[in-house]
Amino acid sequence: MSLTRGRVRAGRVEDFAQDSMTALKVDGREVLLVYQNGVFYALEDRCTHDNGILHDGELLDGAVKCERHGAKFDLETGRPTMPAVKKIRLYQTEVEGDAVYIVYQQSF
Ligand code: FES
Repeated sequence: MSLTRGRVRAGRVEDFAQDSMTALKVDGREVLLVYQNGVFYALEDRCTHDNGILHDGELLDGAVKCERHGAKFDLETGRPTMPAVKKIRLYQTEVEGDAVYIVYQQSF
């Protein structure tokens, strides 16, 4: 199996409001793009507790809260609070000029 780096353009920086959460499809995966305090974060859009859809949840300061049972996921580390115990998958983001990209690994 080999890994290839993939990159998808999510939009222009100005397309995203401060403190916004945007649900995107990236290479068939559901990804949540968060823009907070001038930084873009990207994470899997499914809660690791019981598959809650995170874009239906609440954006807190530095975390996303799942609306189903209240688990919070740290935007920097992916670490959860109870009842979730498994980290959320994070994706790298890049800003080049006015474009925002989400970076992921493809396996073959
Ligand atoms: S499904 Fe997210 S906290 Fe339970």
